[in-house]
Amino acid sequence: MDKQRLVQTAQALVAEGKGILAADESSGTIKRRFDSINVESTEGSRRNYREMLFRTAGVNEFLSGVILFDETIRQDAADGTSMVKVLADQGIIPGIKVDKGTVPLPEAPDELVTEGLDGLRDRLKEYNDLGAGFTKWRAVIGISDETPTSYSLATNAHALARFAALSQEAGLVPIVEPEVLRDGDHDIDRCFEVTEETLREVFDQLAQQKVLLEGMLLKPSMVISGGSAGKRADPREVAERTIECFKRTLPASVPGIVFLSGGEPDDSVTANLNALNQQAAAANAPWEFSFSFGRSLQGAPLAAWAGKAENTEAAALAFYTRAKLTGAARKGAA
Ligand code: 13P
Repeated sequence: MDKQRLVQTAQALVAEGKGILAADESSGTIKRRFDSINVESTEGSRRNYREMLFRTAGVNEFLSGVILFDETIRQDAADGTSMVKVLADQGIIPGIKVDKGTVPLPEAPDELVTEGLDGLRDRLKEYNDLGAGFTKWRAVIGISDETPTSYSLATNAHALARFAALSQEAGLVPIVEPEVLRDGDHDIDRCFEVTEETLREVFDQLAQQKVLLEGMLLKPSMVISGGSAGKRADPREVAERTIECFKRTLPASVPGIVFLSGGEPDDSVTANLNALNQQAAAANAPWEFSFSFGRSLQGAPLAAWAGKAENTEAAALAFYTRAKLTGAARKGAA
């Protein structure tokens, strides 16, 4: 394990004022996003859209890394430059989603497990050769009266740790993503309880599987009220409860937390991240609170782009605006 490389990359990904753009939507997910703006998802349209994001002038001031999908890490921009080079030339570290999505967990109604471990060691070698500096694996945990079960938490945590150990062996920083879904009308206490149980299980497995905590990043959800809860907790409470939950479960040696946006409205995502950074010092939170956002950075530029070349400039401006505001929230200055 190249500890020095792992630690350096992990720290660079959570550099001050910067975070990660998640542009690693699988073929199915990007098709759904494009359907919402009536654009056909083809290799060309996906390339044009993502190239617009990656070439947005000045965005590297706020982005340390971009997570790519397998197609994109092998793809060239319109002028023949590889997408990896487009990013690396701006000092942005390319990363890669390596899980293969979720399938139903046997004998566990409504619960999912993430696949993609078979052959992962060889795929990681190839991604390293293609220029990746980090990897991502997403596990999905839903909240209901019956779920999550300890069976699904154990199974997903085991896979996350297997992925993380293999990534570090290949010199790649793993972004460990146990996403607790916001769906449901549960209150913030219930989200706290599920997040606490999830993180305990994940860090137990990471320790058992010898993952170097200084050389990884955690990509969790914030502790929030369910998306359809009658009364939703405000940013101050979200930040307090999230920090309280992490203090119980996260070792201080993890350098940074790169939150997902999870389908929360943009303004609430920004306000919550801002509150977390405002409270961090007084609460003695030892971790960087950064971002690894997909929807919250891409919603506005996707709508502005609408698949038309003549909208490229407007879309880039919308992306820059969201990235700048998110970068400010990452410093508690939004
Ligand atoms: P969202 O920010 O849209 O939740 O996406 C982040 C991500 O990469 C999910 O795996």
